[in-house]
Amino acid sequence: MRDKAFIIAIDGPAASGKGTLARNLAKHYGFHHLDTGLTYRAVAKALIDQGLSLNDEELAAQVAAALDLKGLDRSVLSAHDIGTAASIVAVMPKVRTALVQAQRKFALNLPGNVIDGRDIGTVVCPDAEVKLYITASPEVRAERRFNEMRAKNPDADYNVVLADLKHRDERDMNREASPLKPASDAHLIDTSKMGIEAAFLEAKTLIDAALRN
Ligand code: C5P
Repeated sequence: MRDKAFIIAIDGPAASGKGTLARNLAKHYGFHHLDTGLTYRAVAKALIDQGLSLNDEELAAQVAAALDLKGLDRSVLSAHDIGTAASIVAVMPKVRTALVQAQRKFALNLPGNVIDGRDIGTVVCPDAEVKLYITASPEVRAERRFNEMRAKNPDADYNVVLADLKHRDERDMNREASPLKPASDAHLIDTSKMGIEAAFLEAKTLIDAALRN
């Protein structure tokens, strides 16, 4: 039995497939899973629900500091618009400091954790045993998101979804605080032409090798 948690850090842009991969890996290895995107989404949604501004850093940081990671509900937080709102509060250093503190505490859970987001390998868990950077072309990612949305909303428009994703990538990759980028020691997996099963097997090979060491 390990006395230190084994960490698998997974980063990448929206709809790259990192969330599904993270869930599948956590299940396979019997590890805990934290989708850190939900933490930023929960802060944005709490502000919206109370009719408060998304642009007040002090207020957003207070909400972030009070967040209970156990109460994160994907079914309530997964809406496309909440993702866009999350990327607005995610540029704020004080919000990030509060959420990163909670995320690092989660990362101590034994025997191990799969943590996915934008800055896990670079900032939250720079010493993670395995770092994966999952990516795919904007067009492929927009198509995935569009297909998910169309199931609920027949009026969903592919071009709007593509433009939104590109805008969000731009905000996530070019912000000052913890921009989205692969850690220098991350393994890149491009899911543009690869099914989720193939991505899982590639990740599993890397993780099994790290677990043997
Ligand atoms: O991954 P998801 O689409 O749920 O993330 C929503 C937004 O939260 C991202 O676009 C990004 O701005 C922010 N985020 C972040 N750092 C993380 C996870 C998410 O900045 N570790």
